Amino acid sequence: MSTRPSSSPPLPQTEPTSIAGQLTEARQRLAEAGIESPGLEARLLVGHLLRMSSAGMIAHGDRALSIAQTEAIRNLVRERASGRPIAYLLGQREFWSLPLQVDERCLIPRPETELLVERALQRLPDGAARVIDLGTGSGAIILALLAERPRLEAWGSDASADALAVAADNARRLERTVHWFRGRWLEAVAPRPLFNVIASNPPYVDPSDPHLEHGDLRFEPRAALVAGDGGLADLATIAGQSRARLHPGGWLLLEHGYDQAPAVRTLLARHGFLEVASHRDSAGHERITEGRCPG
Ligand SMILES: C[S@@+](CC[C@H](N)C(=O)[O-])C[C@H]1O[C@@H](n2cnc3c(N)ncnc32)[C@H](O)[C@@H]1O
Repeated sequence: MSTRPSSSPPLPQTEPTSIAGQLTEARQRLAEAGIESPGLEARLLVGHLLRMSSAGMIAHGDRALSIAQTEAIRNLVRERASGRPIAYLLGQREFWSLPLQVDERCLIPRPETELLVERALQRLPDGAARVIDLGTGSGAIILALLAERPRLEAWGSDASADALAVAADNARRLERTVHWFRGRWLEAVAPRPLFNVIASNPPYVDPSDPHLEHGDLRFEPRAALVAGDGGLADLATIAGQSRARLHPGGWLLLEHGYDQAPAVRTLLARHGFLEVASHRDSAGHERITEGRCPG
């Protein structure tokens, strides 16, 4: 749970209120701040602090809250109104139906990355298989793959020790075994054994992209988001390193920006990958590009 005080001064002492009163106040505050789903987020934040479900809060709406509880709720809502991502405030984000713990040390897993998981599952051979998730962050991709294929030999790597700590914690809580490596892409990993699938959602945002100054992106680790060469530098590095680390017939799958698919297809073709193809996310953007290692 992240309930750190925000940088602005605390609200003054206040009179006690009810659960229903706080839900209404929180919804109004979030709506004024331009939050897209203020009612839902008000319920999530108030329920998180009171450790109550939405149904419980409705059933006990007239229950009085202490001054301390009221102030804690107001502080949390104020943080959200200032833009701090709700996933960091709740300390959790669901991905592939897994409740992953997340905080400022890692990227918040995005729904479009579930397409990478879907495609990787398609490309894994039946039976024994070895897969690596490069730039694992919270561990979202590798833990989703393990949820579907518990006997996979699962590897994960990241340059960030902080992110790896979050990923290892998530794996422990979900009782999954992953071999973790810290370092730059495949340089962190011994040249053998080979993988059946390499999957990665690397940083791919151009450092000058104005979106970096909006929404959740403002609060996420910059190193998880941006890459040089117009956002293509890390995609190019991974494409260059992967072929020698795949079994013949193995697959490389990469997530990328909505307009980067042609460039990524070119990268994979240049490195000798076959059957190079891109797949569209639910918004219709080409989001995942994959290629098969010859052999
Ligand atoms: C876009 S985030 C993806 C996180 C997670 N896989 C997900 O999909 O939610 C990219 C990840 O790559 C890691 N990363 C950045 N540069 C790296 C590098 N040179 N080598 C390895 N990992 C790197 C970041 O720390 C971050 O965790």
